[in-house]
Parts: sequence; C-alpha cells; structure tokens
Amino acid sequence: MSSRRKLIAGNWKMNKTSADSTALVTDIVAAIGRQADVDVVVCPPFTSIESAGKALEGSTVKLGAQNMHPEASGAFTGEISAGMLRALFATHVILGHSERRAYFAETDAFINKKVIAALKNQLKPILCVGETLAEREAGSTLKVVQTQLEAGLEGVSKELAATVVIAYEPVWAIGTGKVATTEQAQEVHAFIRGLLVKLFGDAIAQKVRILYGGSMKPSNAPDLLAQKDIDGGLIGGASLEARSFVELITAAAAVK
Ligand code: PGA
Repeated sequence: MSSRRKLIAGNWKMNKTSADSTALVTDIVAAIGRQADVDVVVCPPFTSIESAGKALEGSTVKLGAQNMHPEASGAFTGEISAGMLRALFATHVILGHSERRAYFAETDAFINKKVIAALKNQLKPILCVGETLAEREAGSTLKVVQTQLEAGLEGVSKELAATVVIAYEPVWAIGTGKVATTEQAQEVHAFIRGLLVKLFGDAIAQKVRILYGGSMKPSNAPDLLAQKDIDGGLIGGASLEARSFVELITAAAAVK
C-alpha cells in the first residue's frame, strides 16, 4: 500500500453548459458529502468554471481547468491564463491532453511552458502523456512516453515536482471503450515512476500521483486502481454522470 492518496479527476471535455455543470456538481457533492479518503477534482469547460466552483463550495471537491495559455495576459485571442483560473479558485489544470496535441498541434515545448506557468501560479498541472495505437504497435510506447514526460517537465524544480500529477493516457484507449490491461498500464506507470526517480530522486518520485486515463469506468477501475503505481484516474465519459463518477470515487476509496 503506497502512501499516496488516490486522486479521481473528471475531464468533462467540451460538455455541459454552465447550468448543467451546477447540476452535476451539486449531485456529486450530495453523494460524496465531505469524504476525505480520496482527492477529487472536476475539470469543466472554461464557461462553467465559475458556476461549478460555486456549487462545490464547502465540499472537498476541487476545481480544475482543461487547458490554459502560458502567458500571464496579452494579445492571445481566445485564450485563458493561469491567473484567471486562480481568480476562480481553480487548483488544477490538465495540460498536454492528447486531444490538444492532436487537434491543436500542441508541442512538448509549448506544453512545458504551460507546466512552468501553472506551477508559478500555484496551479497543479495534470500532465498527460501517452502513445497512439500506431506507436504501441511499432513498439515505441516507452520511448514516446519518456520524450513527452521529460520534455513536459523540463525546468521543473525538485521543490515543485511533487505537486505535479501525471496522467498516463494511451490514446487508443480514450473514448474508445478499449481499456489498457492492468499489466499494460502498470508497466508504463512503473516506467514513469522510474523516470521520475531519475529526474527528481526517489523521495519526490514516491510522492507524485500517476493517474490512468482511457475508458476507465466503475467495472474496470478496481483492478486498475489496485496496481502499485496507479494512483487514480483521469476520467472522461464516466465523469459526465454523477452516478458513475461517484462509483469511481468509491472504488478508489476501497483500495487498500
Ligand atoms: P475517457 O477519456 O475516459 O472518455 O476515455 C479520458 C480522457 O480523455 O481524459
């Protein structure tokens, strides 16, 4: 049993209006009360951050965003800064999600700038890494993950490294219903832990939470969450309904 607290984060992607978000957060909070066994984060779209934040006031649920721009302010039409997120009491931000990499051409260097900017503003980055199906089939999974991880964390200090969350999300498992086997996931998670040891030393590496993401749902979560280096989940589809999201929190709390 590791000393790391499990973390369940919901990535709502481009779903839910502001009113829908209030309703969903209200249901989640009503179901889990002030549970303190597991860290829980919801990441609504930007337009819902404020309403979701109000609905989770007084609960143990935390607020995250799905992206941000590295600059503090300026002529970046359509973008949002870390300071803007902090002003709405966000504590986490998903960075480098594979959909951002694939559809918005985000590079490791750009993602790294965001990681640094998030940490500078006391936001905890949830840095996503993961291989495509073609990369897995070509046998380059670990190489891809290593490149994304090392480039994404370049320049992060030892002091701040423990606050970073890593999400291993095999691209072929996202939204496809194809979940990685527990062995496939644990292998990559252990590899990531080893890279963190090299980068920051063992004590810090043992503190960093490494989440699994990719079709995690209540039926497959218990086995995944029982793996030594799987410290929680970044949940897409199953985070859009209170019932399944709460079941995932319960599953994480049950892991001994
Ligand atoms: P999924 O998405 O749970 O719907 O597969 C996970 C993610 O993209 O973060």
